[in-house]
Amino acid sequence: MNTKLATQNATTFATPLLAVFAADASTSTSTAKDAKPEPKLLTTNDAITKAASTVLASGEFKAGLGETLLLHAPAGLAAQRLLIVGLGKLADVTIHELRKAAGTAVRFAKPRAIRDLALDFPKTDLPASDAARAIVEGASIADYDPDTYRSDRKDLSLQSFTLLAADVAPLAAAFAEGEVLSAAQLFARTLVNEPGNILVPLELGRRAKAELEPLGIKVELFSTEKIKELKMGALWAVAQGSENPPALIVMTYEPKTPKSKDVIGLVGKGITFDTGGISIKPADGMEKMKYDMAGAAAMIGAMRAIAELKPAVKVISVVCSAENMPDGKAYKPGDVVTAMSGKTIEIINTDAEGRLVLADGLHYAKTLGCTHLIDAATLTGACVVALGMLNAGIFSNDESSYEKFNRGLEQSGEHYWRLPCTAEYRDLIKSQIADIMNTGGSRWGGAITAAMFLKEFVGDTPWIHLDIAGLAWIEETRPWIAKGPSGIAVRSIVEWVRSF
Ligand code: BES
Ligand code: ZN
Ligand code: ZN
Repeated sequence: MNTKLATQNATTFATPLLAVFAADASTSTSTAKDAKPEPKLLTTNDAITKAASTVLASGEFKAGLGETLLLHAPAGLAAQRLLIVGLGKLADVTIHELRKAAGTAVRFAKPRAIRDLALDFPKTDLPASDAARAIVEGASIADYDPDTYRSDRKDLSLQSFTLLAADVAPLAAAFAEGEVLSAAQLFARTLVNEPGNILVPLELGRRAKAELEPLGIKVELFSTEKIKELKMGALWAVAQGSENPPALIVMTYEPKTPKSKDVIGLVGKGITFDTGGISIKPADGMEKMKYDMAGAAAMIGAMRAIAELKPAVKVISVVCSAENMPDGKAYKPGDVVTAMSGKTIEIINTDAEGRLVLADGLHYAKTLGCTHLIDAATLTGACVVALGMLNAGIFSNDESSYEKFNRGLEQSGEHYWRLPCTAEYRDLIKSQIADIMNTGGSRWGGAITAAMFLKEFVGDTPWIHLDIAGLAWIEETRPWIAKGPSGIAVRSIVEWVRSF
């Protein structure tokens, strides 16, 4: 989809579909059936207001978030159709509702084979550039469907999305940023959607190389030999049961004129398929475990955006990728392995493999000079039990890093909820046999014991851990996004990097 920003009057703009946003201006909080919504168009365009007035007065359209209403041949407009898209309560409208409503318009057009869409820039009190950025993000993200492997696939992707505004000059930079961020998120989603037989660890590395090298990122792709040479015993333990060799992917962004001595490390869990290994998972739903590399995809996507946005800080991303398989050569419960840091780990459950590959990834990132670390991983089912699918888990050993990340969420609109990783939980991962064990022994606090395990490998380095297990895959279609890979964390991680 080609996204455009145009200084153009919506009245005379010829398009098969013109969209306009509307919000419910009623102040009643009642959810009763007789509660009367007051849909109000967020436009300064008189022709649009006139064309929509009768239908808005009818009360048929309540302007709920994701609600749509279509008018054909709207009088007084050059557009063939006018689509009114709801934002929910006017008082609650933020850039995140604008993002969703822009997506809703795109997903309305797609199945109807309408190839071009224009949107009348909404009149709100929100900063106009933030609004433009969120709108183009929402539109681009909505254009994606995970149907690459369907023979009956009809490419219904839109040809163009045009944002019409009275003066585009103050919006242009933010609009371009939104294009970069959504392209990065889309790239992460396409990686996550790839099946485990195609996207094996080295293929993940090759895709990262093909995408990032042309953008000026240095991409090094290592496998078994280097992993053994570095003594990455934790990553190797997971990898050794698979016919598909592991990958250590190191991506480096070097700013032309760095404004800071900080070096940011982005570490991703890249399990291209998680069977659970010898502690094998139940068959039901196992196919989903192709998305156990969503943390890695988020980091590769973030590097794509970083290459284009060019922050003044050095960024190194380390992705540890392997396939977790049961096999004659696979690691077993009871095994003791030595991580690159020298710590010994007693394996209790081979399904707790993500923390093992991250342990070596985090330590390696430190040896490469990273002063600040962030990791993303589909790490625990326990995090999904704790927070459901509406918030990802966030853990940190550093208030300032955490605060910076939190502030970025105002732009990205993603949802994270902080969970503790304080010293009193440390005893839960003590082992009698080795320095630590790879589970908390019981199911209780499983997201926290996983975070405590990672914390062993970051030492005093400021660090953030994102457990995205519940948000990496969208289980149900929404009006603004397809079900399937979400691309969670890409935009928030980029905001965090830019805060340095
Ligand atoms: N990849 C899974 C976590 C996961 C669960 C991701 C659901 C996405 C959705 C991870 O490797 C895992 O299996 N974790 C175990 C840890 C346990 C054995 C301590 C879990 O959460 O059950
Ligand atoms: Zn697992
Ligand atoms: Zn896993």
